[in-house]
Amino acid sequence: TVNGIDFAVADLGLAEFGRHEIRLAEHEMPGLMALRREYAESKPLLGARVSGSLHMTVQTAVLIETLVVLGAEVRWASCNIFSTQDHAAAAVVVGPTGTPAAPAGVPVFAWKGETLEEYWHCTERMLTWPELEGPNMILDDGGDATLLVHKGAEYEKAGAVPSASDTDSAEWAVVLDLLRTSVAADPSKWTMVAAGIRGVTEETTTGVHRLYQLAEAGELLFPAINVNDAVTKSKFDNKYGCRHSLIDGINRATDVLIGGKTVVVCGYGDVGKGSAESLRGQGARVIVTEIDPICALQAAMDGYEVTTLDDAVDRADIIITTTGNKDVITIGHMTRMKHQAIVGNIGHFDNEIQMAELGRYPGVDRTTIKPQVDEWTFPDGHSIIVLSEGRLLNLGNATGHPSFVMSNSFSDQTIAQVELFTKPEQYGRQVYVLPKHLDEKVARIHLEALGGKLTEMTKDQADYLGVPVEGPYKSDHYRY
Ligand code: NAI
Repeated sequence: TVNGIDFAVADLGLAEFGRHEIRLAEHEMPGLMALRREYAESKPLLGARVSGSLHMTVQTAVLIETLVVLGAEVRWASCNIFSTQDHAAAAVVVGPTGTPAAPAGVPVFAWKGETLEEYWHCTERMLTWPELEGPNMILDDGGDATLLVHKGAEYEKAGAVPSASDTDSAEWAVVLDLLRTSVAADPSKWTMVAAGIRGVTEETTTGVHRLYQLAEAGELLFPAINVNDAVTKSKFDNKYGCRHSLIDGINRATDVLIGGKTVVVCGYGDVGKGSAESLRGQGARVIVTEIDPICALQAAMDGYEVTTLDDAVDRADIIITTTGNKDVITIGHMTRMKHQAIVGNIGHFDNEIQMAELGRYPGVDRTTIKPQVDEWTFPDGHSIIVLSEGRLLNLGNATGHPSFVMSNSFSDQTIAQVELFTKPEQYGRQVYVLPKHLDEKVARIHLEALGGKLTEMTKDQADYLGVPVEGPYKSDHYRY
């Protein structure tokens, strides 16, 4: 703790660099800056104590400082061991007006290259407020903060170790260890934390999936807004964001020429669509695998070969998973890959690739080329290059999505936080999506920033379509 702020970051000396990048990012994040202007005086988040678990990048710094402008107190951790940008973390702790000797910003617990134990410890500290107060809002990406609160409360209620989660067994053992210690120290900690929370806003597909599972089981402890399925989030960040940051990660990690290579993209959802397009843009021959016939047909119609990984694995130079599912690239696949095939994942968790099985494979040898780039050599002499230990490579090997697209996502996040915090009585223990007029508002701001001119309907035209002139323009079942 320095100057009343507790934090754990790599180096506060990086704050000036971080501040410069935040300043440049603000210009590229017109949605967040418009929300700051709109709410600077009314401060709808006054009294909000937001615990955030989301990649601690430059873009996230602009989100955090927007929540502060809207009146919130904030504590932050990253939602991935490799995704923190240390200069951004330092700048957030120091704050716009502080200095490294006298920080005046927001408590952050995150650095690039945490161990799993450190990661979960940071998550706990981010959820543990001074003076025994808890957070009253969670902002989550992938659901780890929500998971810790739910598993902790389940532990305390049952007086016994909670049921396993969907995290892999090694990671689950770390979570259980942490919960044992914290419940021994305070047997009602997580129950109290859960009781104080008005709601969670969740950023990504994987976290949203976990929330719907909790809600269906009747186990969700507080209301949730699914930010991911705002159109201005998943149809932009997941798609155009990955179109930008996937090849950025591959290039920074390997600098291998992508043109002419055979690349397999596993999954053709929003992330897969953006990923396949970026690789094709580099001149790669892209093959798509899918389990869903609709997405598979889309890939075929977009001109990609569609086949199974079993069929394509021997000819692939680069293989990328985008599914949010587990065991997509198996150890059996890895033994059959070409020499120096590049293997990476851009889905949320590392279990898309059988990393644990790779580590246990008899006679396999790991050579770290540089941080987040490992060559794994099999006994037969062929090797594969695995990026970010199977964790999302666009954030592990590069810096994630660029500011402009994150301005869409984070505007949705901010609006969702305001919504749940200011109208708790309107939301039950369910999962909700943002109303369409707010989605359209976020799109309008970003279109304007790009210089796009929108056509306005006449009243007569609007009546003909049966929608208001000022929107919303589409029914809820429209798919974009
Ligand atoms: P999505 O549900 O739109 O797409 C996933 C696709 O994978 C689906 O079409 C599904 O049918 C397919 N799939 C599932 N199992 C498969 C298998 N075994 N083989 C082949 N295909 C399979 O989800 P979305 O939004 O594309 O997200 C995917 C993952 O990426 C999630 O974990 C999400 O949290 C994460 N994500 C990562 C981002 C990043 O910056 N790295 C950004 C946004 C999302």
